[in-house]
Amino acid sequence: MPLIRDPSYARVESSDIDYFRGLLGDTGVITDSTALQALNQDWMGKYEGKSTVALRPKSTEQVSKILAHCNARRLAVVPQGGNTGLVGGSVPLFDEIVLTTTNLNRIISFDEVSGTLVCESGCILEELDRHVGGHGFTMPLDLGAKGSCQIGGNVSTNAGGLRLLRYGSLHGTVLGLEAVLADGTIVDTLQTLRKDNTGYDLKQLFIGAEGTLGVVTAVSILCPPRPSAVHVSYLAVPDFATIQKVFVRARQKLGEILSAFEFLDQQSLELTLEHLEGVRNPLPDTQTPFYLVVETSGSNEAHDYEKMEGFLEEVMEEGWVLDGTIAQDSTQTAAIWGLREGISVALKHAGAVYKYDLSMPVPEMYSLVEETRQRLAGLPVEVVGYGHLGDGNLHLNISTKHYDENILKHIEPFVYEWTAARRGSVSAEHGLGQMKADCIGYTKSQEAVKLMGQIKRVFDPNGILNPYKVLPQDGASRGDHHANAMAA
Ligand code: FAD
Ligand code: MLT
Ligand code: ZN
Repeated sequence: MPLIRDPSYARVESSDIDYFRGLLGDTGVITDSTALQALNQDWMGKYEGKSTVALRPKSTEQVSKILAHCNARRLAVVPQGGNTGLVGGSVPLFDEIVLTTTNLNRIISFDEVSGTLVCESGCILEELDRHVGGHGFTMPLDLGAKGSCQIGGNVSTNAGGLRLLRYGSLHGTVLGLEAVLADGTIVDTLQTLRKDNTGYDLKQLFIGAEGTLGVVTAVSILCPPRPSAVHVSYLAVPDFATIQKVFVRARQKLGEILSAFEFLDQQSLELTLEHLEGVRNPLPDTQTPFYLVVETSGSNEAHDYEKMEGFLEEVMEEGWVLDGTIAQDSTQTAAIWGLREGISVALKHAGAVYKYDLSMPVPEMYSLVEETRQRLAGLPVEVVGYGHLGDGNLHLNISTKHYDENILKHIEPFVYEWTAARRGSVSAEHGLGQMKADCIGYTKSQEAVKLMGQIKRVFDPNGILNPYKVLPQDGASRGDHHANAMAA
């Protein structure tokens, strides 16, 4: 993370504020220090910038004029959605202007035949789900931050979440988007077509770009029919090798209705029960190293329940699952998901947290948690592992009271090197942000990173969009993809 502000960026002057007020009105320009504090600080309270102005446009045209002005003046800009990101991507490092999409919150259309939703980027995920729910559809993604994250932020991080296993990634479900480039050019690819092979698929570049290529102002997204029968089970499993057997059997037995396969370790469970009020242990009499949340989403209540019950009986007969429960009503379902989704909130309540979001071959996944625990033995930390097992995505979290360079030294670069040696990814779903802006080389080749730098310069020649994030500033990254892959 760079510690020095790039002096080539201009500083905001009173004439800039006058311009923004003229464009957005007084309510669209935030300069009050209390209001700015919330926009300067990330969700974890780990990253904090020093922006003196935030802008709240209400239309794509206003976004375009803001960026054209900032580009001409060389003022750096941080696009911000719900500010729930976990890698410091949504907040400034220094005095970058915050451009928040909160007021770009209109639903434009919903097509009940195809299930295609078109909306502005500041719409909150949970509200969108409620809207399409009224038409018998559901959003193709779901995550613990759904109450505050925005669809533009989801698209810009290519968020994964709890149902990627079932509905796939946003690279598949986003059908089109509208984005504003650094110079104010509006790129309209807001199609609603399933099939369109005309030239390069530009929308894909904005998906997961973390605000470095443009500001996403509207999105068109394909929603699947809302499942009328949802069943959730919570299972106790003795070891990580057995989890994999249960996963294979779940895919065989539950087939097309399997919609989530999540795991948490005993340490995650204990930490969440300790630090989060209102969570319930679904199996209070069973202590085992691992727990699973398995969900089915289908259309036949009795048939789907029977399938889940048959699956549970089978894995218990095999001796793979020591104890298990199937939620009997929506309260029990919410309690199981509340525990799983509550882990990140509990980690926040517990103090400081070093978060790693990795993907790798599933059989090797938990060894990293164990090795990290061994490396940190004797230090005042709790190492927990949980994640989207069905997607090969591990969330390794090291919880401690305060951020401490000595602890960090024991974790990095170990975690990144370990992952790279197995050809894994140092960002499965949270992105690189400022936390890992110099880490892309652990996962991507030098040639790929160079090409990304060239793309960035085409879209944003003055580098005003989300500087110090995603790509290494000087082109040099920690880690060497090929060297690490060779070491594997
Ligand atoms: P922000 O945090 O505001 O921004 C994230 C990044 O996108 C930043 O780089 C920002 O500059 C950029 N950005 C935001 N909006 C735009 C825009 N309109 N145009 C261009 N760039 C933009 N993530 C997952 O992938 N899976 C999970 O399961 C998951 N669970 C979470 C649970 C909790 C409790 C929390 C707090 C976070 C979780 N996250 C998860 C991380 C986070 O919620 C997601 O990354 C989410 O997609 C971010 O959306 P946001 O609107 O809050 O974006
Ligand atoms: C999750 O899966 O719970 C989210 O990605 C958030 C986190 O990793 O803490
Ligand atoms: Zn996750």
